[in-house]
Amino acid sequence: MNKTGIVVLISGGGTNLQALIDAERSGRLPAGQIVGVISSSPAAYGLERAKLAGIPSAVVDRRAVGTQEAFEARLLSLIECFGGELIVLAGFMSILSGDFTARYPERIINVHPSLIPSFCGKGYYGLKVHEAALAYGVKVTGATVHFVNEVTDGGRILLQKAVCVEEGDTPQILQQRVMREAEWIILPQAVQMVANEIMLQKENG
Ligand code: GAR
Repeated sequence: MNKTGIVVLISGGGTNLQALIDAERSGRLPAGQIVGVISSSPAAYGLERAKLAGIPSAVVDRRAVGTQEAFEARLLSLIECFGGELIVLAGFMSILSGDFTARYPERIINVHPSLIPSFCGKGYYGLKVHEAALAYGVKVTGATVHFVNEVTDGGRILLQKAVCVEEGDTPQILQQRVMREAEWIILPQAVQMVANEIMLQKENG
């Protein structure tokens, strides 16, 4: 069996990366293998998670690199070096250009902490998404895993899971609940689905 090489792109805490590591370890990601982690920030705790799991990692600091072109060229060469066939954006806070996403059609997956099309697109990331959901007063939110194309948060939806908003929620409390009850569950499931698809395509030539 020729497993699909998965490269995970992160920027922060890396709890979604951890969910993928745990899924692979416990046999819930049989079609894939995490072959590398790339962080856009040198301070990301997710780098420590990769190290603890024995996964090779690298940092591509957007600001240090300078231009978007140079940033993406570095990402591409690292993804190739790692043997990445499937790219997972797990709390990756940089937007990728249409040139980049066109190189990997239906091969880049993102997890977003709301039920798309609510609270998504440019400017909606991390805690801001939950702040906006609470400000609007929605009673149900959730998470979405989708393919990445040239439209921010606009690619085909793979999986969604709803989560209830509760009385007294702060953005931080809601973020934790959405992660625990939705993101950490549906991200590994979606990654397994797509990794399996890629593996079958490889087997059938
Ligand atoms: C997660 O909630 C993820 O959905 C979100 O950032 C957090 C990263 O946490 N991503 C976005 O908002 C992307 N638009 P993590 O580093 O602990 O996985």
